[in-house]
Amino acid sequence: MVNLTIDGKEVKVSKTATIYEAAKEAGIYIPVLCYAKKLLPYGACRVCLVEVEQMKGRLIPSCTTPVTAGMVVTTMSDEIRKVRKTVLEFLLVNHVVDCPVCDKAGECDLQDLSYEYEVVTNRFAGEKFDLPKDEINPLIERNMNRCVLCGKCVRVCDEVVGYGSYSFINRGFETKIATAFDRGLNCEFCGQCVSLCPVGAILPRPFKFKARPWQLKEVNSVCGYCGNGCTVTFGTKDNEVQTIRFNDKTGVNDGNLCIRGRFGATYVNSDQRLTSPLIRKDGELVEASWEEALEKVTEGLRSAGSSAGIISGARLTNEELFLLKNLAKAVGTGNLDHSGGECYKGVTEGLHETLGLQASTATFPQVEKANAILAIRNDFYETHPVFGMVVNQAVKRNNAHLTVIGDKQGKLTRMPHARNLQHKPGLEVNILNAMCRFLLDEKLAKTDGLQGVEELQEALADYAVDAVTAAAGVSADAIKQSAKELVSAENAAILLAYGLPYTAYSRELGLAAANLALLTGIAGRSGSGLYLCGEKSNSQGAIDQQILPAAGALGVSGMLKSASEGKLKALYVTGEDMLVSYPDKGLVEKALDKTPFVVVQDLFLSETASKADVVLPAASFAEKSGTFTNAERRIQRLHPGIKSPGQAKTDFAIFQALLTGFGAAVPATEAAAFMALAATTPGYEMVGLEMIGDQGYVWGGETLVPEIRNLVAVTGGKALEAKYQLVVGSALYHSGTTSVHAKGPMSVVSEPYIEFGREDAAELKIVDGQQVKLKAAGGEISAKAKVDRRLPKGVLFAPYHFGSLKLNRIYNGQASIAVEISK
Ligand code: SF4
Ligand code: SF4
Ligand code: SF4
Ligand code: FES
Repeated sequence: MVNLTIDGKEVKVSKTATIYEAAKEAGIYIPVLCYAKKLLPYGACRVCLVEVEQMKGRLIPSCTTPVTAGMVVTTMSDEIRKVRKTVLEFLLVNHVVDCPVCDKAGECDLQDLSYEYEVVTNRFAGEKFDLPKDEINPLIERNMNRCVLCGKCVRVCDEVVGYGSYSFINRGFETKIATAFDRGLNCEFCGQCVSLCPVGAILPRPFKFKARPWQLKEVNSVCGYCGNGCTVTFGTKDNEVQTIRFNDKTGVNDGNLCIRGRFGATYVNSDQRLTSPLIRKDGELVEASWEEALEKVTEGLRSAGSSAGIISGARLTNEELFLLKNLAKAVGTGNLDHSGGECYKGVTEGLHETLGLQASTATFPQVEKANAILAIRNDFYETHPVFGMVVNQAVKRNNAHLTVIGDKQGKLTRMPHARNLQHKPGLEVNILNAMCRFLLDEKLAKTDGLQGVEELQEALADYAVDAVTAAAGVSADAIKQSAKELVSAENAAILLAYGLPYTAYSRELGLAAANLALLTGIAGRSGSGLYLCGEKSNSQGAIDQQILPAAGALGVSGMLKSASEGKLKALYVTGEDMLVSYPDKGLVEKALDKTPFVVVQDLFLSETASKADVVLPAASFAEKSGTFTNAERRIQRLHPGIKSPGQAKTDFAIFQALLTGFGAAVPATEAAAFMALAATTPGYEMVGLEMIGDQGYVWGGETLVPEIRNLVAVTGGKALEAKYQLVVGSALYHSGTTSVHAKGPMSVVSEPYIEFGREDAAELKIVDGQQVKLKAAGGEISAKAKVDRRLPKGVLFAPYHFGSLKLNRIYNGQASIAVEISK
């Protein structure tokens, strides 16, 4: 720590602090334009100039100057005021003055500073900029006439996002921020540059002319898409979410968001939302009262009893899941499960067998300090983009070694020095096994206190590095180097995403990753961790609360099979469009057709809902209170920003009403439900709602120590012998089937596609946008081709979010599908 004096005040700060940070900590205001908390110091704009007694005679930028012991700083004097005013005058020489139409008015740093420093005239005359606006893409407008060249957009896109869209071009008066070849912006549209631009040069187009900032009510909540659990700040007006606003003061994401969080929440305002319960009468779904609908549901579930099946999505709050579990009990069925059944096996079974845990062992911020990171499935970035930004920062700021095991390339594989173990589809487990075997053979493994070392070593006989290298198509050296880096790093992280499009080998992958985490000493060591990243906003909460089949009862796969054989009397589906997102559409269709009573509770009349006997209109995440638990076990609170449309109710209210119908005990509020669930959920016992502050509350602590350390042998996959094979996954711009109702993501990726690598496209003479057909054992699908660079020869990719593709006609949960291509 260092002592210094700022404006006569004694201040004690960390010796790595800058003067600006020290002043901020002491509550002393210094204006800034190019400074941002999450970016490296830059020192370009000069509005933060201060005087330091020991450096008499010149003013220095406070945002880049580190504190030293005994420093005496003055942040305001006549001279400082004069210089800052001159800086602002210079900035305004060429800057257009179009404040009346600029959407940034009211929150523009330049406008605020000009006001504060009374820049009413300008002593310097200059020609105003007259550059063309970039309005090519639907989400971000760039008007470089308003730019003050602070460089924040350039830096955030590189330092945090890892995309590198922008750079400074030209010199002197001509200097400007541009994309490569000065083209229109075409990037991942996370909007980070939007949120950091201090002026109106980069604006979010969907939010233009919606409201002035002072007209908006701000409400902090948690993003409803993925397990990253980012804080989003709704800007609401007229009972609509008008904007998602930048907020780096609360939450785990430091203000960072991805396209889904920033531009994908407005589906809540959609006029397609369900606003009234629907009941099937004479084959048609017609509007009904809540009384009638609830009575029907209660009746149907009661008469089904133990032959009812309940399937839930993983975007319900913890409190709602708690009531749902109670509802299953009240109905008398153990057939309860969430999201796709098989895809959660890695966590619920694999990890349980090895570590006695079903959750990540560490928290996201620890990854920033990691020295070695292993990301399994490069799609991990696409499923959890903001966690991907943490990985980028670890690589760029901490020189972390990054290895990616994946069947295609992605942003992570393009990071500096990333080691890319691009393998044949379905062979991730083989590579992890080879790493384990190498560590054991070379006596590098940390085997103290581990059960099953010898058994594992024997079982890994077939996974010698060279054998796996040949089968998987990756380099032996890369496998060995990565294993060595992981075992020798002071802090290391293994990241694994799970979710509906990654059903194959899920349990095996959980086991193999856990084995490696044990042998490298990563599991349970402070600063290191195994990260299980659930696809949906409350995947972890659903696992914590064991929204799983009771002993001897059916999980999702079992329920669908049983239902398709006419053995279930009722199916109750909440928050899932199974016909679109679950593997094996034929099976789901049959299950829905053969079940005499089907209830679907959702926001939209989804494909699945349109097959139901009763449809219950539910509330979106923006209309709810309660909690989500993110992929690092962080319990965070939701706050409603708007009211639900029409008669839609929260899942909580719907379950309350149903439980009452069954004569069961019902917690009166979400808070009461949280207390009840905390008392019965391991890890949550000591958590009170009041403990969940702005940063949430991580159950189990920052580092979760495994309850057992049991190595379990696991068999790898076999490469599919096919000229062309299709892998299925998530696209960065979408998440599950909800984002297809969101204008932002839809304006970038509005329809399904089949992605081809350049080599295959050239050989097959397929061009971007051309309609192509894929034939597989299960049938045929057709979509436009997208030609990209990230797929190896013979491998195609399709995202699973779009119902119109009917991808699950050919996708039954396998690692890859042999396909024939025609045009
Ligand atoms: S939207 Fe995101 S990826 Fe695109 S330029 Fe801005 S920061 Fe970079
Ligand atoms: S566009 Fe905005 S963020 Fe980028 S350099 Fe200009 S003023 Fe700064
Ligand atoms: S989708 Fe995930 S990563 Fe993106 S903003 Fe929401 S929680 Fe964050
Ligand atoms: S904020 Fe310090 S130089 Fe720009």
